Amino acid sequence: MSFPKRTPVAEALSAKPGEKLALAGWVRTLRCSKGAFSFITLNDGSCLDSIQVLAEGKLPNYESEVVRLSAGCSVLIRGELVESPGKGQAVELKASEVVLLGKADAESYPIQPKKHTLEFLRTVAHLRPRTNTFGAVARLRNAVCSAIHEFYQKRGFLYVHTPIVTASDCEGAGQMFRVSTLDPLKPPRTPEGKIDYGQDFFSRPTFLSVSGQLEGETYACALDKIYTFGPTFRAENSNTPRHLAEFWMVEPEMAFNDLDDDADLAEAFIKHLFSAVLERCPKDAAFLSERYDKTLPGTLKHIVESEFVRISYTEAVDILRKSGRAWEFPVSWGTDLQSEHERYLSEEKFKKPVILMNYPAKIKAFYMRLNDDAAEHGGEPTVAAMDVLVPKIGEIIGGSQREERLEVLEARIRKMGMKPEDYWWYLDLRRYGTVPHAGFGLGLERTMQFVTGMSNIRDVIPYPRAPRSAEF
Ligand code: 4AD
Ligand code: MG
Repeated sequence: MSFPKRTPVAEALSAKPGEKLALAGWVRTLRCSKGAFSFITLNDGSCLDSIQVLAEGKLPNYESEVVRLSAGCSVLIRGELVESPGKGQAVELKASEVVLLGKADAESYPIQPKKHTLEFLRTVAHLRPRTNTFGAVARLRNAVCSAIHEFYQKRGFLYVHTPIVTASDCEGAGQMFRVSTLDPLKPPRTPEGKIDYGQDFFSRPTFLSVSGQLEGETYACALDKIYTFGPTFRAENSNTPRHLAEFWMVEPEMAFNDLDDDADLAEAFIKHLFSAVLERCPKDAAFLSERYDKTLPGTLKHIVESEFVRISYTEAVDILRKSGRAWEFPVSWGTDLQSEHERYLSEEKFKKPVILMNYPAKIKAFYMRLNDDAAEHGGEPTVAAMDVLVPKIGEIIGGSQREERLEVLEARIRKMGMKPEDYWWYLDLRRYGTVPHAGFGLGLERTMQFVTGMSNIRDVIPYPRAPRSAEF
């Protein structure tokens, strides 16, 4: 069968009555009238809405196929667009031909025309894009990704692809997935009895990257403004609604920029993404908001229009301590902030995004620029770090000005129990023409959670990877 030129349902719904069209998609529902006609609702994913198709009894396959259609069947339908007498749509398609492409067994097809729980839909992740919710999330995710590239391309940032297999640990946290082709049952051993990664594929231990930042910095320190956008991997055993083992991160990096410039970029970036969602996918956004978080459109608009709060970590600790709250994790200067603290600051105290700056050095990564303020905090210096916190989610961006002074950086690496030799190429940037520079990482899925109102991060990525979860 040669396929005719098809019209997406999204276009058909705004076309004029009288047009002859061919549509293809999947049946959502079938309603047979006692008289000899049926209504098929057809969805092809081009938009949230389905189109109503009128199939009359005189169609040659009416009894044999049309009335036996059920949710999930794929069909090709030719017909003429007519004004719809029914409520809810301006036009419908009057079918002149209905071709059944693929049957879907009505008994076993998991996506029935009723409300399914998100938990159930995770078990049929290969079919969940056929639901309104996951169609809307997919279209919004696409819109956000295109807005990401647009934002940086307009500002002259170069898109750089950093490696996924890496030998260095960017965040220094050691929670990485090993990449190895050694036989786990009989790996080669060193004379000391350890596994000899010298005989592995890359002749060294290698891992999936936790961040493209270090490699990104090398390009920023040659080409000025760059960004990376790709998958990153963390093997931490975090079973929370905000953590994935595989997630996507956007990481801009700018030479000749400091922490304040970094915060300015982060604020402009978030506002750009949020307004793009409101402008480009209004129907999908409205559907998700109606179903999952009614306050969403107002919150997004408020964020786009308001100035973000900028305070230091030290001030934040002060606010948290004076809040009168009984925290699950007590706060004192030097402790890392937990999601409950981050959410209190952005959701309750300031009711908008908050950029927290200058965290204690001891709780942040080795590459962050050391501030000259140890005397102010009993001998504990801070670093020029920045986290952007948003209501409901907490941290959505983490970034910093980078340590550009060779000796300071080497000392920091040693202090954290790492070896400067392992970072020789990263340190070379500080040996040859070092410059102040800064950047950050925005988690795509946390951003998607925010703009869709989905409370679990596993529902904003097609195939979530989390502890004990990698089917599909
Ligand atoms: O704060 P993080 O760990 O920062 C970095 O990786 C830096 N190298 C970025 C940079 O400066 N270029 O991660 C950045 C963001 C977080 O704010 C969060 O939004 C997201 O990545 N993120 C996660 N998202 C989902 N699941 C996880 N396990 C995540 N870990 C971080
Ligand atoms: Mg972070």
